[in-house]
Amino acid sequence: MINIAVLGYGTIGSGVVEVIDRNNSSIDGKTGDNIRVKHVLDLRDFPGDRVESILVHDFDIILNDPEVKIVVEVMGGVEPAYTFVKKCLLAGKSVCTSNKELVAAHGPELIKIAKDKSINFLFEASVGGAIPIIRPLCSSLTADRILEIKGILNGTTNYILTQMDVEGWDFDRALSKAQELGYAERNPEADIEGYDACRKIAILSSLAFGKSVNYEDIYTEGISKITATDIKYAGKMDCKIKLLASSENIDGKYYAMVAPFLVKSSHPLSGVSGVFNAIFVKGSEIDDVMFYGSGAGKLPTACAVVADVVDAARHLNENIQTIWSEEGLELTGSENATRRFFVRVFGKRSECENRIKEEFGAVDFIEIPEDTDGFGFVTPALAEKSFDAHLANIPNVSGRIRFE
Ligand code: HSE
Repeated sequence: MINIAVLGYGTIGSGVVEVIDRNNSSIDGKTGDNIRVKHVLDLRDFPGDRVESILVHDFDIILNDPEVKIVVEVMGGVEPAYTFVKKCLLAGKSVCTSNKELVAAHGPELIKIAKDKSINFLFEASVGGAIPIIRPLCSSLTADRILEIKGILNGTTNYILTQMDVEGWDFDRALSKAQELGYAERNPEADIEGYDACRKIAILSSLAFGKSVNYEDIYTEGISKITATDIKYAGKMDCKIKLLASSENIDGKYYAMVAPFLVKSSHPLSGVSGVFNAIFVKGSEIDDVMFYGSGAGKLPTACAVVADVVDAARHLNENIQTIWSEEGLELTGSENATRRFFVRVFGKRSECENRIKEEFGAVDFIEIPEDTDGFGFVTPALAEKSFDAHLANIPNVSGRIRFE
């Protein structure tokens, strides 16, 4: 028997217990041993719940229990998760987590402790929910040099953008619905401002490139300024608006960014709807591989955590190598990245058209009946810094979105 403990009985924690209960014989068969949840830690009480008799409020009970070999951390946030996880690893207990804040902030240190102790720190569920992406980066794709990772890494914002597109809702209505369905937190900032996707691309980039990408160095823009009218313009241009997270290795220089992009409807990422996520990985030899699936949600995410538990149980005294050095990876700013931009302007086109052409040359003007106060235009491809300089000379700009 292999005893595990679960830190946090929220959405994912209760999902972990449910998956282990429901798929018990299959999980045990794949583990080659019997997985038992011995303790669940939470501040709250759950009278009448399945975990009532194994609930503890004191972390030290878990830390000091020599029978607990694997700890699942699904509390979220950096503290106290970091302190608890580090103590567990130092005590010789493997840890499986879905906590991207923790992994993005302290991943390499915790990986090193696990390696030194011949145990495991596993975090498949921290990126992409149910989608296997950490393990492929660490094992299946190790023969190739990764050149680019690009994808939709946040289910909540993808749900909001999908509803705005399909239902014609404004941002606030789509956000309220996402909160009602439990996708978005009551404080939705981490999702809608792109911070969640930023931490996820930092984790993937660190694994792909082998050194630590500091999430604070990644240019991050969310979707809170995207309007229903922007979505109408996107439709007119045969595009969807998607929050993309990306990182690239171009001739030994590294770039990363999170921002909303206009994605042509012929691009596979444009068809990724609702809470689904998709991730492209481009290698120098393999070209593109794409990963797709449920990016959020209780049971999909819990399954990724429990799969890590199975792996940790199969490798109880053996470290599964994860290459993520504590050495920092310097990111280059994206001011020289060249792309087209969609710009919206308040006012009459006839009054600004010449000025816009003087600044940007041959632009494509776009007008839609829903925008009674203004118009849009698409620039030729140009570097971000050049675009910004020219845009500063255009009066009454109300927004701009990059083209993928
Ligand atoms: N808030 C995250 C999302 C949860 O919406 O993608 C999964 O990491």
